[in-house]
Amino acid sequence: MSIILRLNLRSSLMLQVRFNSKDAASAKTIPKNLLEDKQTAVLQKENGAIFDKRPFKISLDKDKTYSWCLCGKSKSQPLCDGMHKNEFLKIKQRPIRFKVEKTGDYWLCNCKQTSHRPFCDGTHKQPHIQTAVK
Ligand code: FES
Repeated sequence: MSIILRLNLRSSLMLQVRFNSKDAASAKTIPKNLLEDKQTAVLQKENGAIFDKRPFKISLDKDKTYSWCLCGKSKSQPLCDGMHKNEFLKIKQRPIRFKVEKTGDYWLCNCKQTSHRPFCDGTHKQPHIQTAVK
């Protein structure tokens, strides 16, 4: 946010507050996983492999339960397709079960490094993530 003070011709003080897109993004609240306390999302410490450097916008229904891929190996990103069960891949991470409060569009994390699983929290903007995927 930047604040600009201006003096106009009538000598009255004008206050102009400008928001840029970065401020708008940080002001947005990250949705809450309604199953966060009931599932294993907070117990798994390790993140999965970086799948993409951008989040994925998806329509979600408030009455459904979803499984978000944490391991980064699913072919149905950003959701789980069961790939973590392949014993030859020796994957430690398990999918994150989640529900949303309202039916609508949500940005799900696709870099698998978010601190607010399964929702994008902007972590993907870090240079090591941006350079990891072409
Ligand atoms: S895509 Fe992972 S934090 Fe945004």
